[in-house]
Amino acid sequence: MNIIKTLTSQAIPGMIVAEDIYTKDHYLIIAKDTVLTDKIITRLKFYSITDFYIYCEDNLVKEETEYFENTFYTEIKKSESFRRFHIAYQNTLNDLKSSIEDLINNNNKVDTDKLFSDVSKIIYQCNTNIELFNMLHCMRQYDDTTYIHSLNVALICNIMGKWLDFSPEDLEVITISGLLHDLGKILIPEDIIKKPAKLTDEEFSVVKTHTLRGYRLLSEKDIDERIKNSALMHHERCDGSGYPNGLISHEIDPFAKLIAIADVYDAMTCARVYRGPLCPFEVINLFETEGYLKYDTKYILTFLEGIVQTYIHNNVRLNNKMEGEIVLINKFDLSRPVIMCGDQFIDLSKHRDLYIEALI
Ligand SMILES: [Fe+2]
Repeated sequence: MNIIKTLTSQAIPGMIVAEDIYTKDHYLIIAKDTVLTDKIITRLKFYSITDFYIYCEDNLVKEETEYFENTFYTEIKKSESFRRFHIAYQNTLNDLKSSIEDLINNNNKVDTDKLFSDVSKIIYQCNTNIELFNMLHCMRQYDDTTYIHSLNVALICNIMGKWLDFSPEDLEVITISGLLHDLGKILIPEDIIKKPAKLTDEEFSVVKTHTLRGYRLLSEKDIDERIKNSALMHHERCDGSGYPNGLISHEIDPFAKLIAIADVYDAMTCARVYRGPLCPFEVINLFETEGYLKYDTKYILTFLEGIVQTYIHNNVRLNNKMEGEIVLINKFDLSRPVIMCGDQFIDLSKHRDLYIEALI
């Protein structure tokens, strides 16, 4: 049987994995001969696996039925508030682009007040955090650029900062840290960043330098140290498995730890070629089961609880196609709340075979 390499970004449900897949720290995450599902692809993204081997296409298993039309997000996209959000988002994106280009090409100073007021214009379009999260989900495209990703991370960091009761000053700093965390990527050659195939080891080491390059660009600027540290440390992980310096928990700037969570959440929830954005409950489940070693426990718990709380009273569809309303959150099992389906209450923490498949 022929074996070919595929990028995780191009993987689709039904493909069959042709080799065991390990994390960088040699932990087996997907075994050979596994049939890919949407959940498994999300897991690969969670572990930053960029590519892997599959059996060639004629062996695609066609039984996957995880394609769905997401009426929840379709309705939001039609609303007037989404139209206004979209305009504010595009304007801020253009401003962000020219500020960053100025900073890189003309060595201009970083006007953090201007950057923050630009981001605030988007936030003001939304009355609640849930609205902001939902709007963000609707903005997703397959070809998210560094600028779009940075803006999303800044918005997610702003919400997290509020959940953590940050002071107005800290809230501004964490939002700017999110905006500028991937600054160094602008200096990486486009043919590497946008390469539609597997990166060689050499190319991947070039990509990794974006942390150091971003830090160097910011190091001489008169801005909060935490913004600089975030550019340098947002790929570090609490268990020491990150880069560039393999730091462990207490050595990593707390703001960089927050950005790490927003960064991965944004990467996992982005749209894929074969379906719309991912259901947030799948992401919550992954962080819950596998994220505690890599990410700061306090931040992860606040983040997951915050997201789950925003979805209480939302309607959802389960994997057995039953539909109902989220009525009770289980603090010890956040991705498995109690669902009211008609006059029946289903406690997902007690029905391990069931899970939330989509928001409806
Ligand atoms: Fe990055």
